[in-house]
Order: sequence, then C-alpha cells, then structure tokens
Amino acid sequence: MAGLIPQSFIDTLLDRTDIVEVVDRRIKLKKTGKNYSARCPFHDEKTPSFSVNPDKQFYYCFGCGAGGNAIGFVMDYDNVDFPQAVETLAHTAGLEVPREQTTPQQEAQRDRQSHLYTTLNAANQYYQHALRHHPQAGRAVDYLKGRGLSGHIAKLYQIGFAPPGWQNLIERLGDKELESLVENGMAIRNDKDRTYDRFRDRIMFPIRDQRGRVVAFGGRVLGDEKPKYLNSPETPVFSKSRELYGLYEAKQSRKSIERIVVVEGYMDVIALAQHDIHYAVATLGTATSEHHLTRLYRLVSEVVFCFDGDKAGRAAAERALHTVLPLLEDGRQAKFLFLDEGEDPDTLVRKLGTQAFESLIKDARPVEQFLFDMAAEGLNQESLEGKASFSKRAVPLVQQLPSGVFKQLMWQALADRTGVDLASLTELAQIQTPKPKPILAQDLEPNSPNSLAPKPIQRHEKNSGPSKLALTCISLLLQRPDVATQVENEDIAILNDSGESLLSELLTLLRKQPHSNTAMLLGHWYGTAEGELLARLAGEESIIPFDGLPVQFKDCLRRLTKHPKLKVLQERINDLSKRGIGSLSDTEKSELKELLAELRALESANS
Ligand code: UTP
Ligand code: MN
Repeated sequence: MAGLIPQSFIDTLLDRTDIVEVVDRRIKLKKTGKNYSARCPFHDEKTPSFSVNPDKQFYYCFGCGAGGNAIGFVMDYDNVDFPQAVETLAHTAGLEVPREQTTPQQEAQRDRQSHLYTTLNAANQYYQHALRHHPQAGRAVDYLKGRGLSGHIAKLYQIGFAPPGWQNLIERLGDKELESLVENGMAIRNDKDRTYDRFRDRIMFPIRDQRGRVVAFGGRVLGDEKPKYLNSPETPVFSKSRELYGLYEAKQSRKSIERIVVVEGYMDVIALAQHDIHYAVATLGTATSEHHLTRLYRLVSEVVFCFDGDKAGRAAAERALHTVLPLLEDGRQAKFLFLDEGEDPDTLVRKLGTQAFESLIKDARPVEQFLFDMAAEGLNQESLEGKASFSKRAVPLVQQLPSGVFKQLMWQALADRTGVDLASLTELAQIQTPKPKPILAQDLEPNSPNSLAPKPIQRHEKNSGPSKLALTCISLLLQRPDVATQVENEDIAILNDSGESLLSELLTLLRKQPHSNTAMLLGHWYGTAEGELLARLAGEESIIPFDGLPVQFKDCLRRLTKHPKLKVLQERINDLSKRGIGSLSDTEKSELKELLAELRALESANS
C-alpha cells in the first residue's frame, strides 16, 4: 500500500514544473503582458478571465474564483485526486514519487475511508442494475414513468431501485463488505447485533460529491408509506451541510450555467432536468448553509431560491436570506421565488412547461425587494410608527451585507423609503451593534481574566477570517515569501494569540521552509477555505513595487503585533473612509478626526 507523499517531494515537484506548460498542454494559452490567459475551463465564459502567472506559478480565474498551483489545476482539470495529480506531474518531470512510511494505523484508516467509497459505488451499481433486472423492478419503472421521467434522465441521475427485503445489498456485496456498509450508512446494526439493509423497496437517488463519487443516497417509497424519503446518515464521507443534490450533474451537463436554482427535493431537480432546466440543485432536507452558497457563488453569480408559498416556505426563505446576505459581494445576486401553495417545481414545470417556468425564475424577486418586503410585513408604512419599526427591522439586515456599492445603495434605498437621512440610519446601526468595549490597560495582559486576546475558537465562530490588516500582510507575503525571514518568533506567537491563525501558520511554515514560493504556499492549503482565500489574494494585482514590499510588510506586521488596539482603530477608520467623507454625518466626521489623532499617537508611541 502506498504511503503518504512527503511534503519535501511536493515542493521539489512544484519547483521543477512549469505551470504554464501544464496548463497550455490542456488549454491553449495566450501571452498577455507578463501573464498568460485563456477562457476559463472551469466555467462558461465568452471573454477570457482565466490567467496563469509564470512568476508565481499559479493560475487564477477572475470570473469564477478558481485558483491554485499546478497540482490543483491537474486535479480539477483532469478530475483526479491529489496523489494521481502528483503522479501525472512527476511523470512529466521525470521524477519518481517517493512514499513516506506510514504507521499501520494510518494506513488502516486510509484504507477504510477509501473502502467506504468503494462499497457506496458498488451499492450504486447494484441499485441501478436492479432497476433494470430485478423481478419487481416493473413497479419502480412504472412509478418513474408515471412521474414523467425518461430513461435518459434516469440514467443521467443514476436512479436505481432497492428491492423489497432486508438483506439484498448485504448479501450481494458479501460479508467482507459488511463493516464498510454499516459505516457508510447503507446497513444498520441493531442492538441484537443483527444487520440489515437501510434502504428497502425504494427508488434510489445517489448523491455525488464534487468529483462525482457517490457519498450517500436518498430513497423514496413507491407509495404513500412513511417516511416518504429516507436519507443516508452523516458518515465520514457525507455531511449534508456540504453536499448539494444535483450539483455534480449540473456541472457535468457542460452547458453554460448563468444561475443556479436551489429547490427542496430530489424530484424537483430531476423533473427540472427532464425539462432541460439543468441548473437546479437541492439541499438534502436541511437549510441552505453558508458552505453550500460559497460553492454555488464560485460557479455562478446568481442564485435563485425557490420556496413553497406556505408558512414553512416563508420561514425557510427568511433563513436563506440571513445566510446569503453576508455573501453578497458586489456582482453577486440572490433572488427569491415563491410558488403557489400546493405546487413545487416538479408539478409546476410539468404544468407550465420549460419556457414559462424559466420566466418565473428570471423574474424572481431580487434580494433587495425581498428584504424590504420582509421588513415591511404587517406594518403600516404610511405612519411614523410604521416607518420607525420598518427601519428598525431593515437596518440589521442591511448591516449584514459586506461593504461595497450594493450595501451603499441599500442604505440609500432605505433612507429613501423611510425619509430618514442616511446619517441617522448609520447611527441607528451603531446603536444596534454593541460598540467594542473600551480597552483597559490590564486587558492587554494576555493572562488577565478580561484579556482581549480572542480565543481562536471564538474567532472561528464569529469572525470567519483574518482582519483586514492581516489580509494585507498575507497578500504581501504571497508576493514575496522571503520577507518572512524578518519576523521574530515572538511576533508569530502574538499573532496566534490574537486569533490571526492563518498569518501565523504561514509565517511558521516559511520559517521552516524559507525557500517556498507562492505555488508551494497555495499547495499547502489546497482544497481548504484558507487555500481559496490565498489563491484569491495571490491573484490580485499588487500596486506596490516589488522592492517596496518588505518595508510595507514590516509596517503592517508591526501594526498588527505591537498594539492590538491599533487593529480596532484601523478597521473603524477603514470603514468610515471607505464610505467617502461626503457621505459621513458631522458626528462621524468628528469621530474620524479623533480616531486618526488617536492612531497617530499610538503609532508614534510604538515607533
Ligand atoms: P417534500 O415532502 O416536499 O417532497 O420533500 P417532494 O420533493 O415534493 O417529493 P415528491 O415529489 O413527493 O417525491 C422535499 C425534500 O425533503 C426531504 C427530501 O430531501 C425531499 O426531497 N424529505 C422529505 C426527507 O428527507 N424525508 C421525508 O420524509 C420527506
Ligand atoms: Mn414533489
């Protein structure tokens, strides 16, 4: 059994690989300035926004945000896993991939995990086979036909049939797969130590992950029995808050996707596909998560949520609104479509046909309208009281938007609707968000009971990433990893304590491996949320000249580490100045003046 690939080999490999060649062998690149560009292979586009940077040895798409080093590119383009991509590149570079010795436990653990996929795949084959050949398959086929599905669509979604009986799958796969079937949720072991198939006499819908591997199933009864749908439990290879039913198939369709529609059910996705609407996905009996949406917005700039018109649908829409607001950077759109009571996308598309349904999708209510409609619900907006309650409800919603033009427009729209001027609205916003506590000298002692150094865990929950200042440091590091040699160990520790874990990890890594380049750094975090952030930052053009980077870095780092209060100040100043002096109220202007003075005082005290 192959062991782990040592990190040092991956570094060597990236060192000997030219990403321009790797990409160019797969898609034709054109030289544009010092970079190369092409139409992005990961999303559909007419003008090229995909670029490859030979100096930093990474690629980045400004359209869909895909980015990474040569290994990542091969993984995504060739649709292979990490070790395979390494093998491919090593082969081209004429290198042999060494393997680290792993402990028997590690090896067993890895084998078990890949075994879970193997047995899920075998189950999928079995169910599909049963749909065609099992003596009872006729009922299942009739059921699917009755719901308007063609053989082609059934095949595309790999729909299968779990025949009646308690041991079909277990017997088919044999004893040596039993443990794996229990662990991946396909079999259940009761307290009498008996095992039986989880899915019996059901239509089976395999759920596939990004790379097309089956990770779970949904199963529907053929009649009116309860429960109507049964889903795989959470397992080491399946988490419902991460997967979306139909996303893999939508991407596979290779047709251009402008927007994605999020619906509730398996059959909604499939019925829409049957009507050529190949861009629907379903959450798996849960609310849409932040992770779901992050993935969708990487693919498209518009997400349309589709809900039942009933009370439950309303409540679900409200939850979706809260989840999507913080993600609505400029250029992204979210829309809300409410169907008439008793309808779902499946029944409706069959009733109305493709064109009419697509018009509904296109005309869905934009997020700005839905937000205001929700805030206005049950209020008389003519009355002063109504207006006051309206802004009280709308302000915290608008506040959830990330800074940008859209947010500013929303403030303006809110001001127009309520007749309250912008300045008072933002003041109201400040009253509603508790101001940071004043910082006392003793709070800055790391061990004091009120220490302001946030615990890393809290920070992960509340604040999902580095501060602005830390982001600047990270960007600078990505442009010039060698500046890390200037950093003291003590500073790394301070960063870590103040919750800047990504920056401190980057610095630690660079201290250990001073010759890492941008691609190697991206490689280290490949496939994680941090990796995405790093790729995005590395893709941004720097306006600072190469030689000026070390000084800039030193300055930023000093501000971050010398006095945590600077961070708070800096962010507030940034927020205010971003909005433009012209749009600030008098109170805010004087606040800004005070903040700047305070900042100067602190900085000169530190220098
Ligand atoms: P619905 O009850 O709206 O069913 O469940 P549906 O999608 O319209 O199903 P059909 O048209 O009768 O076949 C929507 C989704 O909620 C989850 C499933 O993911 C389903 O697709 N669900 C529903 C369950 O997990 N279990 C259930 O018992 C019912
Ligand atoms: Mn339905």
